[in-house]
Amino acid sequence: MPLLPPLTQIPPEVASLEDYERLARERLTDHAWAYYYGGAGDEITVRRNREAFTELALAPRVLAPMTGGHTRISLLGHEYDHPIFLAPIAYHRMAHPDGEVATALGASALKAGMILSTHASMLLEQVAAAAQAPLWYQLYLQPDRGFIRELLQRVAAAGYRAIVLTVDAPLKGLRNREHHALFKLPPGIEAVNLKGMKSLPPVYAQPGAPSIYFGPHLDAALTWKDIAWLQENTHLPIIVKGIMHPDDASLALQHQVAGMVVSNHGGRTLDTAPATIEVLPAIADRVAGQVPILLDGGIRRGTDILKALALGAKAVLIGRPYIYGLAAAGAVGVAHVLNILRAELEMAMAFTGRATLDQVDASTLWDWEYRTSKSSPPARAR
Ligand code: FNR
Ligand code: LAC
Repeated sequence: MPLLPPLTQIPPEVASLEDYERLARERLTDHAWAYYYGGAGDEITVRRNREAFTELALAPRVLAPMTGGHTRISLLGHEYDHPIFLAPIAYHRMAHPDGEVATALGASALKAGMILSTHASMLLEQVAAAAQAPLWYQLYLQPDRGFIRELLQRVAAAGYRAIVLTVDAPLKGLRNREHHALFKLPPGIEAVNLKGMKSLPPVYAQPGAPSIYFGPHLDAALTWKDIAWLQENTHLPIIVKGIMHPDDASLALQHQVAGMVVSNHGGRTLDTAPATIEVLPAIADRVAGQVPILLDGGIRRGTDILKALALGAKAVLIGRPYIYGLAAAGAVGVAHVLNILRAELEMAMAFTGRATLDQVDASTLWDWEYRTSKSSPPARAR
């Protein structure tokens, strides 16, 4: 079937993020679809990220005053209109010819924070020039430290406000879906900000070699001591992305990070890892408010955002859904995806009796202990 062109107007029946998935499928090549939609291995964690949200129930509350309500948050010294950020995703030009610039315009229309990927397909300065909304820069810290030092200077000069250091991808992950589709980047699309960087030769599974991944690649993989190197080479706050264990949250605190993103890379690295929303409570408990926690993975509804905030996240990132918006209708699609989520979040707040996000806590979720206390008063009065 021939690919449809991007829409110039959003059809009136488009209502949800799921609708955008369908619109995107009709406009992406099989290669691009395998790359964006897919996850690692059997995609068990991709599915689990979604399913775990559906297993949580929100507690409806009525007649609470809503006057003066809003969704503002303050994060790392800045105020944001709402807690929805765009996660770093590589190669936006594969989804739409206007690439990351279109994404930045869509984010700007909704004043959403955007995190630009190290593997962006447009120059970080060009994206910064187009953006009217706050930008953070996602870093894959690679062995060519001289190059990275210069990259960090470009990032700061262009006005990015934070470095998001991705720590969960020492290897790319087992991408069977990409493999089956014989995925390769289309000509002309590449990680333009890394041009000139010295990189390691690709890994080949050579028969008879003593090992496949152990050797130069994993020798060069990041360790905790690299955080100190990064701190010495940037003045920007450092947020680590890819924390999935409370012990790693503790180590991140010891290394004085400014924040962390609970993320399993959208199920693209370790398949059969738990859902992010499942590990959030243990991590939030360990962090105990010392630094802000963000979460991504499977956010598709405003109710998912409310659940993440109820369990201790300060804000959330969305990944694939805005790429589907971009593929469907460029900047307008990105803006619409964000607008849908904002509307759904406010609606969910109203139905749970929360006028501001400060009022969102664990009691925003239904407490199943009530079910077993029919004859006695509720276990916990609120
Ligand atoms: C990603 N992700 C990612 N993360 C990162 O730190 N740097 C990157 O370049 C990319 N690239 C990337 C490409 C694609 C196609 C996907 C789907 C994801 C991970 C991303 O930032 C985020 O963690 C997940 O996408 C969140 O999950 P959802 O919202 O896609 O379910
Ligand atoms: C990915 C890398 C780019 O998930 O983070 O495809």
